[in-house]
Formats: sequence, C-alpha cells, structure tokens
Amino acid sequence: MTVAGVGVRQPDLLRYRAEFPGLARSTYLNTCSLGALSDRSRAHLERFLGQWESLGARAWYRHWLPELALLREEYGALLGVPGTQIGLAPNVSGALATIASAIDGVHRGDDATLGRLRAAGLPAGGRARTRVITTALDFPTVGHQWLARAPLGVEVVVLPSPDGLTVPLTAFEAAVDERTALIATGQVYFTTGAIQDVAGLARLAHERGALLVIDAYQATGLLPTDLATGGTDRPDAYVSGTLKWLFGGPGNAFLWVRPDLFEALVPSTTGWFSSSRQFAFDVASLDLAADARRYELGTPSIPSTFVARGGLEVVREIGVERIRERTVDLGTLAIAAADDAGLRIRAVRDEAMRAGIVAVEVPEPRPVVDALAARKIIVDYRPGIIRLSPAFYNSEDEVRLVVAALDEIVPGTDRA
Ligand SMILES: Cc1ncc(COP(=O)(O)O)c(C=O)c1O
Repeated sequence: MTVAGVGVRQPDLLRYRAEFPGLARSTYLNTCSLGALSDRSRAHLERFLGQWESLGARAWYRHWLPELALLREEYGALLGVPGTQIGLAPNVSGALATIASAIDGVHRGDDATLGRLRAAGLPAGGRARTRVITTALDFPTVGHQWLARAPLGVEVVVLPSPDGLTVPLTAFEAAVDERTALIATGQVYFTTGAIQDVAGLARLAHERGALLVIDAYQATGLLPTDLATGGTDRPDAYVSGTLKWLFGGPGNAFLWVRPDLFEALVPSTTGWFSSSRQFAFDVASLDLAADARRYELGTPSIPSTFVARGGLEVVREIGVERIRERTVDLGTLAIAAADDAGLRIRAVRDEAMRAGIVAVEVPEPRPVVDALAARKIIVDYRPGIIRLSPAFYNSEDEVRLVVAALDEIVPGTDRA
C-alpha cells in the first residue's frame, strides 16, 4: 500500500485541535502514554479550585460527592452500563489489586468464596485453583498482582508471543485447565496495539471454570465496548483509566465487575468508600455497598476527577465509533509511510485487530526519541521500540512528519 492510497476518515474531528492548545506547540503522537490536555479539563479544574476556595469542606457534600457519582455514570455510559456498576480507583494497579483480593479465596480453596462462586453459577467454585494465566505482552502490573501472591501458592503462567505482536487464542486454550483460577490479560497490548478476542477468552475461561480479568487501559475510548450484553461471553472484571485515550490525565481509574458476581467477589482490599454506611463512621462493622462502590477504597483525588470530566465530555461528544475510524486510519497511514521509508515496523497490519499503537523497531530507541523531542516531536519508547500513537486530533501531515523525521534519524543499519 502506498502512502498516497491511505484515506483517513473523520477529517472534521481536526476542529477539536483548537480545544487542545498543547497540540500547537509540538507534534504529539504519544496518546498511548498520556492523552493531551483540553481546555475543558482546565475549566473543570478551575471550577474545583473555586469550590475549594469558597466552600472548603462543605464542597464535599454540595459538589464533590455528586461529582464522583457523575464520573461513575460517565465511565458507565462509555461501556453501556449504569454508574452503579462502576467502582472508582486511583490507578489500574489499585483496581487490579482490589479484584485480586476478591479472588484470593479461590487460590486458597476457601469454602465461603468457593460456595459463593458456585451459587453464582461458576464452576470456579468447585475447588482451589492456584494458576493465573497472563502473557509476555501484558503490562507488568497485570502479572505483578499475582506474582505478589506467591506466598498464597499462586503460580503465574506467562504465555510467550510467537510473533512478538500477539498471543493466539490457541495458546490460551492449551494453558487453561482445572488448576486455572483466572486469565488476566489486556484487551489491547501496550507495545503492539494488538486487539485480543475478549469474547473468545471469556468463553474459554468460563468453559474451563476460570475467571477473566481484562486490563482495557489501551482500549477504553478507542474501541466501542458494550459490557451490558454478552452474558458469560463478557469478562468477569474490566479495569481501565483516563490517562490515555480518555484524555483525562493521571489519578483516575475504575473497574467494572459483572453485577451477578458482586456477592461472590468480595474484596479484602477495602476502605471506607466501599461501605454501605459510609457516613455512619462505624469502625466495628464492615457492610460493603450493594453496588460496585464495594470495590472502592478511600478519599479519591478530586482534582483528577474534575480534570477527567473534560476528556470524557470530548470522547462522548464525538463518539467512540468515529474516534475508532480515524485512529485506525492514522495508524494505517503511519505503517504505510514507515514501510515506504524502509523502517522496521512491529505492528498488526490487519486493521480489525489493531488499536492505537504502531511501533517502530529501533535497538537503541532513547537517543532517537530525544532527537525527535529536540525537533518538538513527542513520542515514547519501550525496550527495542518507539511507539507512535496518533489520536483523533492528529493530522495526516503530523503522521507523515514524524515518519519523515524517523527516516532522517534512524541509522540505515536499523532498517528492514
Ligand atoms: C495496558 C496498561 N495497563 C496498565 C497501565 C498502568 O496502569 P496504572 O499506572 O494506572 O496502574 C498502563 C500504562 O500506564 C497500560 O498501558
């Protein structure tokens, strides 16, 4: 495919650039690391500061608790579920830790946990299961939650990637057995942008009596998602956050748990925001909320909550379907341009299976990323690769400019 042959859909989304002033200062192709700041987020943050200054602690009841409820609703709306099915978390690691704490009983073979899971129709409730299946392409925190549970006898099985891009469903099929408590993996891999077959993974896990936990950080806001339907072909838990494709900055993450599993998946990592009687201030009893707030911890970062609103508003106003079309086309353009330049690409070529990341293989990426930064081009690197992640607000010219700069900087010895 030639660069000239790539058509990029949804060109009118470029009008949103004006709302992200930082985009005028650099060529920013690093949304997979940190989405750009919008004027709307800045305005919401100013609103928070004004409330803090004028109301002090009274702002909690008048504004901030309702703002948290609104944030849960906003996340839920993106995923097709009510806000009552969303629990807020400070980051994805924290959300995963809470979920992991609710699964510990399965590893231990604890009767109460197994009984509750059986009652929810899960064969996982049959007996103790100590294995967790993840992959070599997953973000470290996904494996780390369960590596930290080695003292409980938990064994983490890390599936290798045969092509460095994906892990085939057949590899999961070969690994998941009656010892498996859960599959913990990403919807989109953070270095390759490859999309996984979440429904296929859910089916496999459930057929074999295991649970499925999905890290969707590189997918939410980029891939249309409906968690309301699909029955047991849905993950049992889904975690994500605002840092990247929701343009909401650091400090906000969330989890969704299948509501029919609320009673079965009881967290032991907890805090007073998870209580059904939060303002009774009763230290002697713990009654978890009936909804997904049961998975929350303590006081959330309220400034982050306000900042997040700006990005979420933009994403919901545009619609994830339109964002998806534009993003996938910009990725295809980046691949075509990099192919023309003879750069070594590590990306999924099938558009249906690629989300927002196109990686260029460079053995020593850091000096290249620094040289690009000196030209006001912002991308990032991971071991052996440079990640390009054009978002809906990037232009075709920006994608071409970044690839042209790479063409000038990357030594010929590192080419295809
Ligand atoms: C797929 C994925 N999961 C998890 C994380 C990290 O999550 P957190 O820092 O919120 O724990 C990242 C990136 O920061 C990521 O890309």
